[in-house]
Amino acid sequence: MNYRVPKTRKEIFETLIRGLQRLEYRGYDSAGVAIDGNNHEVKERHIHLVKKRGKVKALDEELYKQDSMDLKVEFETHFGIAHTRWATHGVPNAVNSHPQRSDKDNEFVVIHNGIITNYKDLRKFLESKGYEFESETDTETIAKLIKYVFDNRETEDITFSTLVERVIQQLEGAFALVFKSIHYPGEAVATRRGSPLLIGVRSKYKLSTEQIPVLYPTCNIENVKNICKTRMKRLDSSTCLHAVGDKAVEFFFASDASAIIEHTNRVIFLEDDDIAAVADGKLSIHRVKRSASDDPSRAIQTLQMELQQIMKGNFSAFMQKEIFEQPESVFNTMRGRVNFETNTVLLGGLKDHLKEIRRCRRLIVIGCGTSYHAAVATRQVLEELTELPVMVELASDFLDRNTPVFRDDVCFFISQSGETADTLLALRYCKDRGALTVGITNTVGSSISRETDCGVHINAGPEIGVASTKAYTSQFISLVMFGLMMSEDRISLQNRRQEIIRGLRSLPELIKEVLSLDEKIHDLALELYTQRSLLVMGRGYNYATCLEGALKIKEITYMHSEGILAGELKHGPLALVDKQMPVIMVIMKDPCFAKCQNALQQVTARQGRPIILCSKDDTESSKFAYKTIELPHTVDCLQGILSVIPLQLLSFHLAVLRGYDVDFPRNLAKSVTVE
Ligand code: G6P
Repeated sequence: MNYRVPKTRKEIFETLIRGLQRLEYRGYDSAGVAIDGNNHEVKERHIHLVKKRGKVKALDEELYKQDSMDLKVEFETHFGIAHTRWATHGVPNAVNSHPQRSDKDNEFVVIHNGIITNYKDLRKFLESKGYEFESETDTETIAKLIKYVFDNRETEDITFSTLVERVIQQLEGAFALVFKSIHYPGEAVATRRGSPLLIGVRSKYKLSTEQIPVLYPTCNIENVKNICKTRMKRLDSSTCLHAVGDKAVEFFFASDASAIIEHTNRVIFLEDDDIAAVADGKLSIHRVKRSASDDPSRAIQTLQMELQQIMKGNFSAFMQKEIFEQPESVFNTMRGRVNFETNTVLLGGLKDHLKEIRRCRRLIVIGCGTSYHAAVATRQVLEELTELPVMVELASDFLDRNTPVFRDDVCFFISQSGETADTLLALRYCKDRGALTVGITNTVGSSISRETDCGVHINAGPEIGVASTKAYTSQFISLVMFGLMMSEDRISLQNRRQEIIRGLRSLPELIKEVLSLDEKIHDLALELYTQRSLLVMGRGYNYATCLEGALKIKEITYMHSEGILAGELKHGPLALVDKQMPVIMVIMKDPCFAKCQNALQQVTARQGRPIILCSKDDTESSKFAYKTIELPHTVDCLQGILSVIPLQLLSFHLAVLRGYDVDFPRNLAKSVTVE
């Protein structure tokens, strides 16, 4: 949203479309925009809505086909909204995509991330009042509901934010919402609960404040009529953010900083139930209810993210770029934390809670998808270094089981985005039971990083590819660093700690060595890409590699793939093995080596043709291999960082050879903010 710097409609479109393209990794089955139809000085106000199934590119092309829109028309205040969708309710098509509207005249339009769980009841109610629905979405109820509140207002001068305030009091579930209306030209209102939302602030001029005070109704909450009359009138310069001297300031609402980073790195993260309103180029934030823990203001923060970090550069896909970034990303995870001279590790975000963590009875490590695999990968080394029982849990299953959690548990929440709904709910569940909560995330300001008691930022840099790669290796290292920090004064563990720290030091170089196998892995992909299935087998420290490798393969190549614990081979999966079935075996020189050899024999005895990921000096395994990929050797508990990379590369090449769009796998989204 911009104020007092004239821009053409074309420029407004371009800003919106570029923002959507940067967010496309979060959803890409349809997209839409809403923009002023006329300059809103004009009496006959109108909102143009353009929506299209498919990727943002399709929407972009559609915009220029719209004859009714003059692209050169200039606007003083420009406020458009745009959305790219990952369907939860209703198939992906233009009608179901956002913005959703209140009626055929587009009086109110809204974009929504999240899920409204009571939408059926709301829809029934609104239908009984004569509102006609056109889509199958939960979001449409929000658009209709705000119109209902507006149509039934008790006073003419009700403010836009008061309408939104009343709407969200009726909503259950999760949402980040931005509203636009012909009744409030040039005004924007946004709010959130459970789904992320931030506001970027750009101004060449000095800002009136760096801390925006949160406004509360001064009168009795029951007396809503008074509140709506007085709310906006009570706003004065000290309660709003604007540029000093009545100069231009721009506000950008977004679910993710990558959408706005090319405009500004100054952002305000909204809290649940905050209502942010922009009117006359001034931003104010308010809440309906005050609670004891409320922060009285919202600060403008400066993000470290660079535009270049969210661009593909010379790579053909974000996923490929992110795989190749791993020598640097793992280094950045350790930077300033591991002291290779003194063999010590200091995680600043945990240091104040270390005593409490050391006193705990059990560690529970919780995540979804790849983040869960990072927990599986490090479970053994955490058990060894902390000498505590360690449970690893899939967030959804953990919640389904109503797992007992105690005050003396320490619960870790692993999440690249820091927004995954299942993980966030598990966090709240553990917090309610008094456990200490620790976040391991890649996103500063994310819900998980804000709601945990303490945490570690993995510093891997923005990850755009839907299939997670560099976040996995950085999560892995963060958990190992935690184990090292916990074991600093255990005399019996000193040699082991030194061995691991030496291993960490050499990781970036060894990762480069593994990445140099790319061509060989491409050749292997050429042999495998027409297969329907691919098994990945291993055990011990490398079981997680198999789970993660198989996940990468199914996510982006759509081949069936299973990560199999080699110890379970004879209890079922062996039935799948024959001459045709490709089997990848991860066999490393670690305590499971001999047992892995047994599994290898069981596979070759059934005429299976194993492709083996093994250590460079392993002559034994290669004798029985159909093909080998030889990897540099490192400490057993870190080997999984090196062994997963060939599988990341393999899945990438398989997907490209099968003709799929690596960064946009069908039916998946990067950040799943619904349960
Ligand atoms: C989605 C993504 C996965 C990711 C998982 C957990 O399913 O497609 O790649 O591993 O969410 O995401 P998080 O952001 O919590 O690590």
